Amino acid sequence: MKSIESIRLTSAQERGVALSAAGYNVGMLPADLVYIDLYTDSGTSAMSDRQWAAMMLGDESYAGSRSFYRFEAAVRDYYGYEHVIPAHQGRAAENMLSRCLIRPGHHVPGNMYFTTTRQHQELNGGIFHDIIIDEAHDPDADLPFKGNVDLAKLERLIGKVGAEQIPYVSLAATVNMAGGQPISMANLAEVRELTRRRGIPVMLDAARAVENAWFIKQREPGWNGRSVADILQAMCALTDGATMSAKKDSFANIGGWLAVRDPALAEQARNLVVVYEGLHTYGGMAGRDLEATAQGIEESVQEDSIRTRVQQVAYLAGRIAAAGVPIVRPVGGHAVFLNATAFLPGIPHEQFPAQTLTCALYLDAGIRSTERGAVSAGRDPVTGENRYPPLELVRLTIPRRTYTQSHMDVVAESIIRLYGQREKLRSGVAFAYEPETLRFFQSRFRPL
Ligand code: F0G
Repeated sequence: MKSIESIRLTSAQERGVALSAAGYNVGMLPADLVYIDLYTDSGTSAMSDRQWAAMMLGDESYAGSRSFYRFEAAVRDYYGYEHVIPAHQGRAAENMLSRCLIRPGHHVPGNMYFTTTRQHQELNGGIFHDIIIDEAHDPDADLPFKGNVDLAKLERLIGKVGAEQIPYVSLAATVNMAGGQPISMANLAEVRELTRRRGIPVMLDAARAVENAWFIKQREPGWNGRSVADILQAMCALTDGATMSAKKDSFANIGGWLAVRDPALAEQARNLVVVYEGLHTYGGMAGRDLEATAQGIEESVQEDSIRTRVQQVAYLAGRIAAAGVPIVRPVGGHAVFLNATAFLPGIPHEQFPAQTLTCALYLDAGIRSTERGAVSAGRDPVTGENRYPPLELVRLTIPRRTYTQSHMDVVAESIIRLYGQREKLRSGVAFAYEPETLRFFQSRFRPL
């Protein structure tokens, strides 16, 4: 490590005041009052010396920036798509893709929902369908590829609504909301074959596709001898395009892209990028961010770096699981997920056990985690009712190259301590303010 950043330990009293002021939503806390920040791995990773150096080379020309061409070349080389449209982050790419392809009444199948992805699909009138295997909804089902698509579910949907009503299949690798679970190459190939026959495109959410490629190398027969870079290429080759949040795998603090093979779709997206993001050669990113992302893409497939990252997540999981704390199995790529239903069985789902647990974790040791349960799932757009997904989870998301093993030990000790005192947590929280979209970010609660 070449640089350090100070973090501050707060008192229990300070945290109590801060959490109350934040409406019992850790996402509303000032980061200065957080000791170890496991809210997200998005944009929070440490950049390398080479990335910082690349930033000095950023070309800030409005049109045709040299940094854009480097960025475009990196996406083409590592992900293999011809047409690259820059975007300031993943959801901006999702916005453009959804606007281009989804019309009211369309059906969009996906291997579990992701918050922003489904939000853009629904804002464009699409109806989301979960086609992931059933086991993905079971925190205890220990399978190597829990991100896989259930082909029968996809086939049934096509049979019911017709292929022409499905603008694309939306595939995430890895699947964030299932616990960072990978999809196998074999499953991806099967989805490709089925959709090819029916003329349906496949769009990849590539935010953590490198981590997915790593799991394929470790777990899928036939791939162990191949490099992660090769596996990533092979995965992308089975899809028609991708949306990317470069804030994950690519170690960028900000950035993203939409990339496609179809030139007509690319043209359509370029018409949108100028409306929502900026010119098609910067898409809401500064030249220096294009440089940092291009460099980050090259670093992202370095296997020592991915191994260290995945093993750090597994280390934290191993420590807390050994103490009996209920977690999602197997351990995913970017985070450890606590099973809040099993952690706090006395709190009914209407009182949001996962949200309650994020508060308890912050109060105990200043650790910030994320709710990934009913609050994140939002309301059904048709009935307006709360959606209660089977997975009511708290995510401990590990930024890349940022924290040490000692930080993980502090986190583990706090969680184990809380688990030992879980009987004391008997009541949950209720909404005090609920935004209409992506409510988990800004909602406020009151303790019951
Ligand atoms: N897709 C996945 C799988 C993601 O995890 C995210 C972001 C996005 C798309 C959207 O990308 O944030 O750059 O606009 N996930 C972050 C998280 C926010 O904490 O899981 P973005």
